[in-house]
Amino acid sequence: RSRDLNDSFGRTIDYLRLSVTDRCDFRCFYCIGDKVTFLPKPDVLSLEELDRLCSLFIDQGVRKLRLTGGEPLVRRGILTLISDLSRHLESGRLREITLTTNGSQLAKMATALANLGVMRINISLDTLRAERFTRITGKPRFAQVLDGIETALKAGIKLKVNTVALKGVNDDEFDDLIRFCHEREMDLTIIETMPMGGLLLERPDVYLPLSEVQEQLTDRWSLIKTDHRSSGPASYFTVGETGGRVGFIAPMTHNFCDSCNRVRLSCTGILYTCLGRNNATNLRTPLRTSQDDAPIIKTIRKAIANKPEGHDFNIKKDRNYPVLERQMSVTGG
Ligand code: GTP
Ligand code: 5AD
Ligand code: SF4
Repeated sequence: RSRDLNDSFGRTIDYLRLSVTDRCDFRCFYCIGDKVTFLPKPDVLSLEELDRLCSLFIDQGVRKLRLTGGEPLVRRGILTLISDLSRHLESGRLREITLTTNGSQLAKMATALANLGVMRINISLDTLRAERFTRITGKPRFAQVLDGIETALKAGIKLKVNTVALKGVNDDEFDDLIRFCHEREMDLTIIETMPMGGLLLERPDVYLPLSEVQEQLTDRWSLIKTDHRSSGPASYFTVGETGGRVGFIAPMTHNFCDSCNRVRLSCTGILYTCLGRNNATNLRTPLRTSQDDAPIIKTIRKAIANKPEGHDFNIKKDRNYPVLERQMSVTGG
């Protein structure tokens, strides 16, 4: 169908990840860090502009929307945006609105989110130890995040925990994280650090290949390959001892680009057709200069047609690996 968004490698794009703000209340050292630079305020799209752009993507075939950041729940008016976008759920054109969050606002907002139809949320949590949490994120908010998790679970939202594997930082906690998540019926995905934002140039020592983690875990747990969420970047296993699931996202070793179904939009209206590439298309200018949707749609379709075949991540031990200058907080992962 001409309404689908297709690229030149035969992939259909039906998943939009929208970063609603690049700001965040945390300062994870591998992501934003403490030398923060934020996108220029006048370039940030209004809620109405975000809604208009998302609706155009949905018109063109997007079926799943994930709101990311920075931290999506610190964007002012976020609940209004979600509420407005939920009309596409009711019309049946959109299958799902989800979020990836650091969890800091969930104690306050999870119930409202559940009422708006958000059924699944991914939470970033790299440690279960309060002082470590403060060291990683720069903020003493571990208890607040735990509270958020319990509130979201009580509200009936399905949760997945994302843990970035960091050598010498949290690599002794995977067993605890598996138990913690599976006791609460949450999936856990362990993520390999991706060379973005320049920070890993300063801390190349934290890079931990997931193959090592997986091997370690196999010594203590029986991991049974599962198909669950197989369209995503993670390869999933059921843990025999807990019955829960653990996934591994390792772009360097397990390349899921072949079946990639997603593109990313920054809060300033820049369309990134691959997380691990510089390809970027400005949708803000046509959005702000044209009342007519046609030129914007044309720009979107052309950018997606030119989606690159795959990422260019490549970590080598010698520190000279290429690092994308763009911060993770611009595209929300
Ligand atoms: P689903 O939306 O259910 O597929 O979940 P997800 O795990 O993809 O989403 P989430 O926002 O929780 O992202 C978890 C990690 O996966 C983040 O670190 C992302 O950067 C990474 N990730 C998501 N999509 C891609 C991708 O297209 N390429 C690569 N290399 N990594 C990705
Ligand atoms: N490499 C891998 N994952 C990262 N994230 C942030 N920065 C990086 C990075 N450099 C993760 C966050 C969050 C997800 C959206 O991306 O921890 O879980
Ligand atoms: Fe914020 Fe998430 Fe980046 Fe941490 S990883 S600084 S929580 S956007």
